[in-house]
Order: sequence, then C-alpha cells, then structure tokens
Amino acid sequence: MNRTFSIIKPDATRRNLTGSINKIIEESNLKIVGQKRLLLNKEIAEGFYAIHKDKPFFNDLIEYMTSGPVVVQILEGEDAVNKYRNIMGSTNPENAVEGTIRKKFALNIQENSVHGSDSEDNAKIEIEYFFKKEEIVG
Ligand code: CMP
Repeated sequence: MNRTFSIIKPDATRRNLTGSINKIIEESNLKIVGQKRLLLNKEIAEGFYAIHKDKPFFNDLIEYMTSGPVVVQILEGEDAVNKYRNIMGSTNPENAVEGTIRKKFALNIQENSVHGSDSEDNAKIEIEYFFKKEEIVG
C-alpha cells in the first residue's frame, strides 16, 4: 500500500466534476484518505509549482490554479503513484488514452482537470505541503 497526492483543479470544480472524478478514483480501488476543498492563494500555488518557475507557462499556471476552488486529496492503494498516473492520462488531453480522467474531462494542456504526483518522493513532499497528520484517516 502507498499514497499519492491529487488535485482536482479549478476547471473541474467549476464544472461540478468533483464527484465524477472521485467515482473514477474509487472505482479504480484507490481510497481517498484525505480530502479538502481550498482556494489557493498566489504564494501557496507558487510554492507548490516552484519546480516549474522558469517555464514559459508558469504565470498562466498560477493565475489558473488560483482562479477557483481546488480539491486536494490523498489517495491510498497498491502502487498508488503509478496507478493514479494511468487513470489520469497524459498531461495534454490530446494524447490521453480513452477512458482516462483527462481524456474525459480536460479542456486543454493547462486546464487539464487533475494533478497527480510523478514519484513516491514527490508524493510525500506534496502530501506534507497540504495535509497535517490528523487530517489523514485511512
Ligand atoms: P500538472 O500535472 O499539474 O503539472 C504542471 C501543470 O502546468 C500541468 O499539469 C498543466 O496544468 C500546466 N501546464 C500548462 N502548460 C503546460 C505545458 N506546456 N506542459 C506541461 N504542463 C503545462
């Protein structure tokens, strides 16, 4: 059993897709063991995406991620990081496999509905960025 970190992004919360995305997550045998709806401020969003700070899309990304509510989540299950990446599909929905969350719901490469950790190490860092121990109930 391990854990990954997920964000349901503003394009998805705006279209009332939280439940539809959670249904896909739960039907894939990932358990939501932590979850909260937040409005990110600029500082929190910039800190979370610091790794992308030199990318040309950084300012647009921060503006988008602070434009509406997000749902931050901890997902638990066997091989959770890889499993969630497979369920999400490619960053660019044009390349995403049929049946994945991004293929179903993403609008474009930026407004791509969900984020998921890309490694075990980053999952740990990202979970700790948003959650206290008491907020995680398995
Ligand atoms: P995410 O997996 O959260 O990681 C970085 C985010 O930047 C990505 O999803 C998209 O929302 C956004 N983004 C915008 N443009 C690009 C791009 N050209 N390549 C990768 N990510 C992008």
